[in-house]
Amino acid sequence: MPRTEFIATGFHVPERIVTNDDLSHMMDTSDEWISQRSGIKTRHWVSDGETGVSLARDAALHALSLAGMQPDALDCIVYCTCTPDHFEPGNGVFLQRELGLTDIPAIDVRNQCSGFIYGLSVADAWIRTGQYQRVLLVGAEVHSRGLDKTTRGRDTAVLFGDGAGAAILGPTDDPRRGVLSTHLYADGRHAEKLWVDGPGLAHDPYVSEEMLRQGKHRAVMEGKEVFKYASVLMPQSVATALEASGLTPGEIKLLVPHQANLRIIEMVQRAIGLRDDQVYANIHKYGNTTAASIPIALHEALCAGRLSRGDLLVLTAFGSGFTWASAAIRW
Ligand code: UT7
Repeated sequence: MPRTEFIATGFHVPERIVTNDDLSHMMDTSDEWISQRSGIKTRHWVSDGETGVSLARDAALHALSLAGMQPDALDCIVYCTCTPDHFEPGNGVFLQRELGLTDIPAIDVRNQCSGFIYGLSVADAWIRTGQYQRVLLVGAEVHSRGLDKTTRGRDTAVLFGDGAGAAILGPTDDPRRGVLSTHLYADGRHAEKLWVDGPGLAHDPYVSEEMLRQGKHRAVMEGKEVFKYASVLMPQSVATALEASGLTPGEIKLLVPHQANLRIIEMVQRAIGLRDDQVYANIHKYGNTTAASIPIALHEALCAGRLSRGDLLVLTAFGSGFTWASAAIRW
């Protein structure tokens, strides 16, 4: 059975940069608070005319150009997002249309911050069984339009950013390379600890002025709980990934964790016992872009020369659901 290799990666973020000081003009917050608690300095927000799908398209075209491929070489799209442009259909079909494609399948993965690794796991299974040969895996999010940009929403509004990252995946027969494992987890007992309650069909009517007045359409979070579980379960998922392939932390060339909070990344690094050069962080520039954070960070790490052929790459993520995941990849 072949393994799955990354043929190319790419990313796209909106041009508009929003600084912590910009936010302090919208709500009662400060650069000092945001920097100390999260490590975030700036994030990118969409402008008029941009959508999640337009970000995803530009990230996909970036990856395709680096792969030297045209869109019609793709035979499947896996689109990971928790901020879809519409309730239905999913963003995958809009991206397919934007790329000028018809007929190939487009699946949407709704696993929030763990979305990219969940999507990778799905794509990897399809590629290994030979069902698809050239899979476009995208993580793309537009958070900014959904944030409560008043003091009421400051605990979440300062953390999230917009952006998209993409990878082109395909089979390799080289036994020394490719995706070694993916491990996926979920614990729905914590679903309401980071969620958007409505609009939703659990409500009748499913959207109402009262719902909007109460702010149910905004993401709300029990930040301390999310922090507590993330800092324990991400290292655990990495340990499982290493054990599954008989590897040790010292063999990791690069850990690319989901970028939710620099303090969480630091705790994960300490828990696994990694040096600074073994961990990639770019949250200071982009904030938390949920499903897009890993592919954006991975692309930047590759451009910075942090990963070479044969190196061990490990991914880990944690987020709303709760869901969490890890992947080990021999680059
Ligand atoms: O991908 C998963 C997504 N989410 C996460 O990973 C988030 C994980 N959690 C966190 O990162 C942290 O819990 C936060 C950064 C969100 C918050 O840090 P914290 O140390 O848990 O702060 P807190 O919620 O306990 O709030 C401390 C204080 C409160 O004021 P009082 O009650 O002590 O007077 C908050 O009202 O900070 C206040 N506060 C703020 N102040 C200035 C909350 N948000 C802000 C803000 N600016 N943006």
